[in-house]
Amino acid sequence: RQVYVNGDYLPETEARISVFDRGFLFADGVYEVTLVLDGKLVDFAGHMRRLRRSLGELGMAFALTDEDLLDIHRELIRQNDIEEGLVYLQVTRGSADRDFLFPAEETPNTVVLFTQKKSLVDSPLAERGQHVVTVEDLRWRRCDIKTVQLLYPSMAKMEAKSRGADDAWLVKDGYVTEGSSNNAYIVTPEGTVVTRDLSTDILHGITREAVLQCAEDLQLRIEERPFTVEEAENAAEAFSTSASGLVSPVVRINGREVGPGRPGPIAARLRQIYLERSR
Ligand code: PDD
Repeated sequence: RQVYVNGDYLPETEARISVFDRGFLFADGVYEVTLVLDGKLVDFAGHMRRLRRSLGELGMAFALTDEDLLDIHRELIRQNDIEEGLVYLQVTRGSADRDFLFPAEETPNTVVLFTQKKSLVDSPLAERGQHVVTVEDLRWRRCDIKTVQLLYPSMAKMEAKSRGADDAWLVKDGYVTEGSSNNAYIVTPEGTVVTRDLSTDILHGITREAVLQCAEDLQLRIEERPFTVEEAENAAEAFSTSASGLVSPVVRINGREVGPGRPGPIAARLRQIYLERSR
């Protein structure tokens, strides 16, 4: 696989990064994951907007423009022959002697991109529907910043797996925040789509934005507000959204079937429309 590191395209086995990289030592870095369908990037501008915001919140300087980044994304898609999959982009504060203080502003960033060839549209998990369990949300309090500090979400997903589920939904003060790497939704018995409102408690999903627009265009009722685990367990439908999962139905929460225990019609419709608009 060809990867990009600091200006060079090279085989993954030849890529090198300093052991003093702050991404490695302090998780001092941000990332984006962009969907590729039919060889084309989906919502690239939205991902770049969020990248700039993450960098800004962390006071991280970054020299590349969106046009530079678009060229790199496209070149990697070409070199790796990606029809369907993901492009991962990571920017760290660069390499410096280990110190809790940030290095000088002019320290060059480390910029890494790689691709993942994956079948995301035809997904057995989306077809069957995910089983999720709820796990306490023990992440830091700036979940709106897309940092590479992913240990807790990773632990939560492992816990979900050890409990026989596919993913974890994180819970803070009794209310669901989001999934381990996706935004979380329920559909109430009255047919209202509910997802947590934007705040520092969740990542502001790019897919969330697009899917809520689809829901609005379908004239569905939408409520952006926190929902409890109990409300989720008693919902008519549930689903999650992300660049990698698109719209993914959830059919079981904490072992209890959601609705009839099969992917629901609203989730299916949103997945279909989201896909149509993304290609
Ligand atoms: N995760 N919430 C969290 C905690 C996430 O990590 C993600 C994305 C999302 C959905 O955001 P978007 O719709 O912009 O992909 C929500 C990516 C896919 C990942 O870490 O692989």
